[in-house]
Amino acid sequence: MLKTSLFCASSAKKSIGTIVGKDPIPVIALRSPWNHPALTCSDLLYNTMIKLRDIDKYVDSRFQRTFILKSVNLDVQQGEFLTLMGPSGAGKSTLMNIIGMLDEPSAGEYFFFDEPVHRMKEKQKSDMHKNYIGFIFQAYHLIDELTVYENIETPLLYKGVSGSQRKSMVAEMLDRFNMVAKKDLFPEQLSGGQQQLVGIARAIVGQPKLLLADEPTGNLHSDQGKQIMEIFQKLNEEGITIIQVTHSEENARYGKRIVKVADGTIVSDEKVMVGA
Ligand SMILES: Nc1ncnc2c1ncn2[C@@H]1O[C@H](COP(=O)(O)OP(=O)(O)OP(=O)(O)O)[C@@H](O)[C@H]1O
Ligand SMILES: [Mg+2]
Repeated sequence: MLKTSLFCASSAKKSIGTIVGKDPIPVIALRSPWNHPALTCSDLLYNTMIKLRDIDKYVDSRFQRTFILKSVNLDVQQGEFLTLMGPSGAGKSTLMNIIGMLDEPSAGEYFFFDEPVHRMKEKQKSDMHKNYIGFIFQAYHLIDELTVYENIETPLLYKGVSGSQRKSMVAEMLDRFNMVAKKDLFPEQLSGGQQQLVGIARAIVGQPKLLLADEPTGNLHSDQGKQIMEIFQKLNEEGITIIQVTHSEENARYGKRIVKVADGTIVSDEKVMVGA
């Protein structure tokens, strides 16, 4: 593995970290206060994480084209905590899947740290997804046949993280979410709230820069939802950029910005007023 000192900030003229990977964007072990190493040279030079330009998503049938997203333009800066809201069928999940590189737009451009995702091949996109993005779903999507420990470990296996490193990273997650005693249980032996905690642990164990959560509290009681929103707020303070979808005004207020979607287009984009 490539391991070299990196002098990225030309003005500062001092080493800011060490390149530890050779991904589409090199990963730097940054000496950051929150001990969150997954930051890159590009991060430091370009603060805009996501740029969507005139994104369309449509499906063609024999006689007509149906738009799911139409001319979506969106910029997301690093460190934001953004909430997507809008009626059912508005296109929120479709947009999240495009941002998460699980789906592709029919037209338009998508830049992730200035890398043109719209021009990438499947393999490149899946590498980007694996290295930089954590995804949390409403229905948890845990693997029933795997224990809590194994579910959390899965993304690290895909990333090729070594055995000893995996052990310590999973242990840290179990500890963080108070799930050490539950590590050998299977998802069906957990409550909904606990399953979603495992879903969050799995999404962040690989230290993604972007956390996408599509109605993460949709299946939970309000107190469990509150716990999850507090976790998101803490993660955001630690440096992870978050985009969540929710129908709850209360959950939206944990974020810093609310983007409303209706009929496949962005209809409003506002900062959350502190104390409002
Ligand atoms: N593959 C597809 N083929 C045809 N229509 C689709 C496809 N995927 C999504 N749609 C349609 O696109 C629209 C947007 O769907 P999407 O799941 O993004 O909405 P949403 O805003 O997430 O809604 P909800 O709040 O109910 O989750 C819906 O009308 C849906 O039926
Ligand atoms: Mg949806």
